[in-house]
Amino acid sequence: MSDQSFQGVDCFRCGVSYFGVEMMVYVYWVDGMLVDSGPPRLWREIGEFCSSRRLDSIVHTHYHEDHTGNSRYLSDRYNVPVFIAPSSITYCRQRARMPLYRRVYWGRREGFAPLPLPETFEAGKTRWEVIPTPGHSEDHVIFLDQDQGRVFTGDLYVQDRITVSRRRENLPALIESLRRLLARDFDTVFCSHSGVIKNGRQKIQLKLDQLEEVRGQVLHLQSLGLGAKEINQRMYPKRPSITFFSGGEFSTYYTVRAFIEEGL
Ligand SMILES: [Fe+2]
Repeated sequence: MSDQSFQGVDCFRCGVSYFGVEMMVYVYWVDGMLVDSGPPRLWREIGEFCSSRRLDSIVHTHYHEDHTGNSRYLSDRYNVPVFIAPSSITYCRQRARMPLYRRVYWGRREGFAPLPLPETFEAGKTRWEVIPTPGHSEDHVIFLDQDQGRVFTGDLYVQDRITVSRRRENLPALIESLRRLLARDFDTVFCSHSGVIKNGRQKIQLKLDQLEEVRGQVLHLQSLGLGAKEINQRMYPKRPSITFFSGGEFSTYYTVRAFIEEGL
């Protein structure tokens, strides 16, 4: 676990690993605002990160348990309001239902009582714009401070190259969301799993280019008469270990299928 600060944003950083699969988690604090609350498993570490800072509010990029895991604990402890996209409010009120591997990996997320995110809000002297960016999840949003070129991207970026996708990931929508961000002014990306990215614009463009390339390959093979399973076999002959580990929830098949469904 380690902390750093960049452009006025304090960063909490910690790795989570299970059965050899390791993922980094970043939680950000700026001007009294916490951006996502991290996985339940890290409640102690994130609680400690917050204990030395003023906490006025918690805002969420999306409902996944590694982003909302400590919202109940922190909002109770500090008596602060919590915000999320309106479509996820009902779901978040309940204790999360999730497959066993995710419960073990992240911990179980308790129910909390979020308020709907407005279109813009202020923290300190900064006006943050809430931009809908569906794709990774339907409710996904990012927070942009166009004046200083800072953007909290949640799971919009994560990494350049995409291989596996979640069962319900909407890759055509993700492409549109990346384009929406690229139409705006920003430099620094604060990613929930890759940390602070100073050349953020280039990285977002790289991700968009790579996704477009995968879409082109899938649609080309489809035009030759191949089905989703054959295309998956051709493009991704090796099955990544996360496919087994997640009981098939993360798979290259879903990457292929997301683009095939778009063409139907
Ligand atoms: Fe996520």
